[in-house]
Amino acid sequence: MSVPFTTDRFLASLLAGMSPTMPSGMRERVSNRFQQHFPVLYQDLQHLYAKKFADEHAFALWLMDLLCMAGNSIAQRPALLLELDQQRSEDREWFTKENMLGYCCYVDRFAGDLKGVQQRIPHLQELGVTYLHLLPFLKARAGENDGGFAVADFDAIEPRFGTMQDLEQTCDALRKAGISLCSDFILNHVADDHPWAIAAKNGDARYRDYFYHYPDRSEPDAFEKHLGQVFPQVAPGNFSYVLDIQAWVWTTFYPYQWDLNYRNPAVFADMTAALLRLANRGVEAFRLDSTAFLWKRAGTKCMNQPEAHQILQALRSLVDIAAPGVLLKAEAIVETSDLPAYLGSNDETRIIKECHLAYHSSLMAASWVALAEQDTSLIRHVVAATPALPEQSSWLTYVRCHDDIGWNVLRPEACLEAEDVQQRLARVSRFYSGEDSYARGQSFQATDPGAVHGTVGMASALTGFTSAQTAEEKYLARQRLLLLYGLSFCFGGMPLIYMGDELAQENDAAYQHITAQAVDSRWLHRPAWDENLYQQRHDSLSHTAAVFDALCHMLHVRRQLLQLAAATPRQLLTPASPAVLAFMRGSTKQPLLYLANFSENNVSIDINALLAGYDIPAQAWLNQLDRLDAGTCVTLTAYAQLWLTQKNNPGAKA
Ligand code: GLC
Repeated sequence: MSVPFTTDRFLASLLAGMSPTMPSGMRERVSNRFQQHFPVLYQDLQHLYAKKFADEHAFALWLMDLLCMAGNSIAQRPALLLELDQQRSEDREWFTKENMLGYCCYVDRFAGDLKGVQQRIPHLQELGVTYLHLLPFLKARAGENDGGFAVADFDAIEPRFGTMQDLEQTCDALRKAGISLCSDFILNHVADDHPWAIAAKNGDARYRDYFYHYPDRSEPDAFEKHLGQVFPQVAPGNFSYVLDIQAWVWTTFYPYQWDLNYRNPAVFADMTAALLRLANRGVEAFRLDSTAFLWKRAGTKCMNQPEAHQILQALRSLVDIAAPGVLLKAEAIVETSDLPAYLGSNDETRIIKECHLAYHSSLMAASWVALAEQDTSLIRHVVAATPALPEQSSWLTYVRCHDDIGWNVLRPEACLEAEDVQQRLARVSRFYSGEDSYARGQSFQATDPGAVHGTVGMASALTGFTSAQTAEEKYLARQRLLLLYGLSFCFGGMPLIYMGDELAQENDAAYQHITAQAVDSRWLHRPAWDENLYQQRHDSLSHTAAVFDALCHMLHVRRQLLQLAAATPRQLLTPASPAVLAFMRGSTKQPLLYLANFSENNVSIDINALLAGYDIPAQAWLNQLDRLDAGTCVTLTAYAQLWLTQKNNPGAKA
């Protein structure tokens, strides 16, 4: 299909949306961005939506409206954020550097409300945090709301947490402290009491079309044959009967979270506008929730569909035009091979930009498998299957988050050793629920003890702090926790600390007595901030201090090592011992070697043998973590890790 209007007419719509009083320099900047991103935007939207319109002309008018909205959003953008856009356009790799560190928490669990978050900035600075992901804080559905993941209003703050003004002030205060605020943007669904859902229930045809609804079970049953289930125990199935409209509504998650119908162009336009309004409040990054589910196609799992990627790419183009300082982060908990597409690609023929960041959920889950099995065979497959990052993108590496550890994403790797996948993952899941192990987590959403779904529990409970009785057991628990965090620091991405892990905070079973939480055991690992532990963080006799100090130290070392920037190449190495994960970061001219022993036994490694085949002169190595000479033959004690650089060629900042 040819472009029915000239590109200039689309540009004119964008500029018309901006105030006529905008300085000409700004108009020029925006025009340049438009020239750069419009071709991709047009292509994606045309593919997704052109056929929804009577003709090309009608589609073009819709697109002009969308651009006018984007222009208007630029006009509303505070001067300080326009300035930030400019700075970041000049340093597009800013979020991939070795100094980047994320922190993730619930507003209320961490600090009561948004004002409280501002009070905790010194703690974030002590760790060196540069990016704060506050879990959902927009006005949520009354009653059960999946920890805020059922949004009732994209333009209001949950009243318990404060006001929009508080959000703006929090963004400002964080920015002054060198921290970017990341907000969830729940792209896939809204709450059943969001005005769109209410209008749909009231019979408004326009809003009914914002959702997928079916008068009887025939289509839902046909879809169900291919769909998975996110909460098989407490919210089985993917459709919920809604009496008001006498129809089955698509609800991938809980029945009160209605999936949005992205086949409807109005949904795309309204959601984009909502995101840009929040960006103008000062939010610098968006965690795009459940991105894999955005497009439904009969006969498929309705995940990772090409159109879901086009939606994200179109959103990225609009953000790059209207708020280029803003980052998009994909939450797609999918198999390793499906992950890279969420970051786009540097294809030889075409550069595709999608999200700036994506969770490396396979790496996270595989690191727990390695710990349970004391064997790195599975995680080596995951590392080997992780391609180099496209330009200006980064993994989000993490140990724990507010969700369960989902084991099923590892099925492709788990079957490579020709074992029964189900049994292997079920064994790991049982291990973390405490069967014959030091771990004190629980299985998540598995009624059948043989089935594998997920595991819940704080990192400290899963690594053995809770069960540890002796000083030796506590030491081992700490080693395991630091081992997993060390991997997230060295792999190549922005690491994220989950609130409480820095203090070795434990599970919190209180949710069982809270009506709105009791059905969902993920609350086990969503404890409230523990002020006592925090006060102990420098008390040299406490285990909390040992963890806190070690993490701060590792982070300090990390910030000095240029090889640990996200974009620096990574080469998987294959030590003889299956207990050891090893990779090289950086070039052979200035390598950093990461060696990690996932077992409780000592393991010796001959570095020259490990690097045979690489053009690296044999010389002595220095462990950056303790600044001690490592020689060329090293012994890793239980769960130990080494970050080695060449003694005479460290690559560290002066
Ligand atoms: C994401 C969130 C999870 C939530 C789900 C539905 O996976 O991380 O907590 O339950 O989306 O919004």
